[in-house]
Amino acid sequence: MAITNVGVLGCGLMGAGVAQVSAAAGFKTVVLEVNADVLEKGLGRIEKFLTDGVAKGKVTEETKTAVLGHLSGTTSYADLKGCDLVIEAIVENVEAKKHAYAQIEAVVGAHCLIASNTSSLCITELAAGTTRPDKVGGLHFFNPVPLMKLVEVIRALSTSQETHEALVGFARAIGKEPIAAPDRGGFIVNRLLVPYLLDAVRCLEEGLGTVEDIDKGMRLGCGYPMGPFTLLDFVGLDTTYYIANIMFEEFRETRFAPPPLLKRMVLAGHLGKKSGRGFYSY
Ligand code: CAA
Ligand code: NAD
Repeated sequence: MAITNVGVLGCGLMGAGVAQVSAAAGFKTVVLEVNADVLEKGLGRIEKFLTDGVAKGKVTEETKTAVLGHLSGTTSYADLKGCDLVIEAIVENVEAKKHAYAQIEAVVGAHCLIASNTSSLCITELAAGTTRPDKVGGLHFFNPVPLMKLVEVIRALSTSQETHEALVGFARAIGKEPIAAPDRGGFIVNRLLVPYLLDAVRCLEEGLGTVEDIDKGMRLGCGYPMGPFTLLDFVGLDTTYYIANIMFEEFRETRFAPPPLLKRMVLAGHLGKKSGRGFYSY
């Protein structure tokens, strides 16, 4: 299964990173957004990362030009036509994803693979909603995509061996370390990470410590690169809230239930770094 042309759906926090690493590995990559303004913002994030990389001496001007040369943006599904693989990184909502897959399938060829970057949704359900359940799988990247080495590769019950191998091969081709993860809410990493993040919010609600002290505790006491509140702001409180609900629905265990404070912060529009305010102000 040769992959040459890659489509990425969504140019938000994750889609921008996925499109960047795909283009950096030499794949002709087209990234699709809902409108020109959001697309411009997402492409701007990629350009800034590369420009910062040049300033840090990590990226050459030639590489930056080459990456941007392999990348294009669009707001039209028709431009996904020649894709061999489409990676979806849109909002963590099953109906939105299913709707998007129908639009992808209307334009791509029968051979095209579809991979979801979902954090928690059931890959088998996403695959079953398409006309090609054997060609759908999960490629779960980590934020920030250009710096985090891991990709979880998830097989739906219907995913063929050929598709799974092609997705593992793609992850390796873009310089990532793939691990096989089961199709269970949150896969491997979020199964452990999400209850920890939610517990930090519960600790805050109980008055166990301040945001700053809890973060400092986990950074300096455990060597974590970011404390839980910095990480929550970084991931997005909206995305974390959706993930928690999906995992709670899957396992019916209270450790996955979103704490009341998280829900209220999302309702108030305090989504973290991306909205300028979360547990910290930006
Ligand atoms: N271009 C190229 N390289 C860059 C760069 C750029 N624009 N910016 C940074 N780098 C490089 C740096 O040069 C540095 O490289 P070296 O190690 O070789 O020196 C490296 O990247 C780290 O950069 P910094 O030193 O500037 O930053 P840092 O040390 O503060 O690390 C971080 C930043 C990697 C994000 C770190 O804070 C971290 O690992 N945080 C935790 C992130 C995490 O847990 N992510 C997972 C979230 S959960 C998820 O994603 C799943 C989900 O479904 C919700
Ligand atoms: P985000 O809110 O930053 O970006 C989502 C983007 O998708 C937005 O820009 C939105 O305009 C766009 N979008 C929505 N519907 C679309 C459609 N039909 N077509 C094209 N674009 C559409 O969210 P994110 O953090 O990038 O998360 C995206 C996905 O990645 C989610 O499934 C999430 O669970 C997963 N994920 C997130 C993280 C994280 O740390 N934030 C990590 C791993 C996986």
